[in-house]
Amino acid sequence: VSLKEFNTFGVDVKARWFVVVNSEDELKQLFSEDKWMQVPRLILGGGSNILFTQDFDGLVVKINIRGIESEVNGTEVFVKAGAGEVWNTFVLFCVAHGFAGVENLSLIPGSVGASPVQNIGAYGVEVKDVFYSCRAFNIESGQFSVFYKEDCNFAYRDSIFKKELKGKVIITEVCFKLSTQAHINTSYGAISQELQRRGIEQPGISDISKVVSEIRVNKLPDPSTIGNAGSFFKNPVVGVDEFRQLQSSFPDIVHYCLPNSTVKLAAGWLIEKCGWKGRKINNSGTWKNQALVLVNFGNATGSEVYQLSEAIIEDVKQQFGITLEREVNIL
Ligand code: EPU
Repeated sequence: VSLKEFNTFGVDVKARWFVVVNSEDELKQLFSEDKWMQVPRLILGGGSNILFTQDFDGLVVKINIRGIESEVNGTEVFVKAGAGEVWNTFVLFCVAHGFAGVENLSLIPGSVGASPVQNIGAYGVEVKDVFYSCRAFNIESGQFSVFYKEDCNFAYRDSIFKKELKGKVIITEVCFKLSTQAHINTSYGAISQELQRRGIEQPGISDISKVVSEIRVNKLPDPSTIGNAGSFFKNPVVGVDEFRQLQSSFPDIVHYCLPNSTVKLAAGWLIEKCGWKGRKINNSGTWKNQALVLVNFGNATGSEVYQLSEAIIEDVKQQFGITLEREVNIL
């Protein structure tokens, strides 16, 4: 089975076996067969955070569990969504119903089930800020269990599902705790600038959703036409001493101060300063408006994109002494 349509990089690799799962029962049924316990497995949501560098000699499970339900309790709202729901469909549902909390996360590619795995985030909000719990299937035990926020070890683009529980559990449903009272978050400069440009002084959640969507459309390539997986690397965090040294050599270095004497740097800026922004090598390259996004311009192989990422890591290391870490999963 070709996986080309199931990864947003649009890389054409094959899976030995491929199955679509539409319900928790189907999932349980699948793994009650001994055969699937013995082979390599890959759980796929929207395929928007993965780079395939070779065929997958195992079972790919595409999670397609749907459904969105909400329960309003005073100003609190609990919204449960099937892991296979498209993330942005869920966001638009919440915005349309006046459920606040995820509007800053508009238009992020991928599925609801994948959102806690790497704790997706954008424009000043992360999934952990609205995550209440999730249901997950344990492949080994064949049982479902519930994970609450404090069980998940959320951190910047990280969680227990990416670490200790990687490959062990499959998220089937996520419950978010939202609010009927909006706490508008315009901490990210790009949002407040765009609101100002539009003359919106008292934005509602639908304004935020629209503005964020427009910023993303202008800045990021649309995976349906140009293969990509969003930011390819994480923004590196350095100690304040290392930062001061860097700043003395590069006074305009883009940075955000964090607690505990650490500083987050903009990987896109580092990559751009190495001359990589908008560069194209054969079929792959970096995006013209955002150097942190690697793209497949046509028929690039996963290895080609991977080689490009190696070259970028090397250059950033040479120039700044910083080793970029990939955010995208490499297979
Ligand atoms: N910048 C450059 N050159 C570039 C790109 C960025 O100089 O080519 C500088 C600019 O100064 C810009 C700053 O870096 O103001 C930050 O750029 P941007 O606002 O695009 O955000 P980012 O730090 O590059 C992160 C997330 C994105 C998220 C945006 C908005 C990571 C790895 N990426 O990108 O998430 O949408 O912030 O909040 O944290 C993703 O994870 O796939 C993703 C797209």
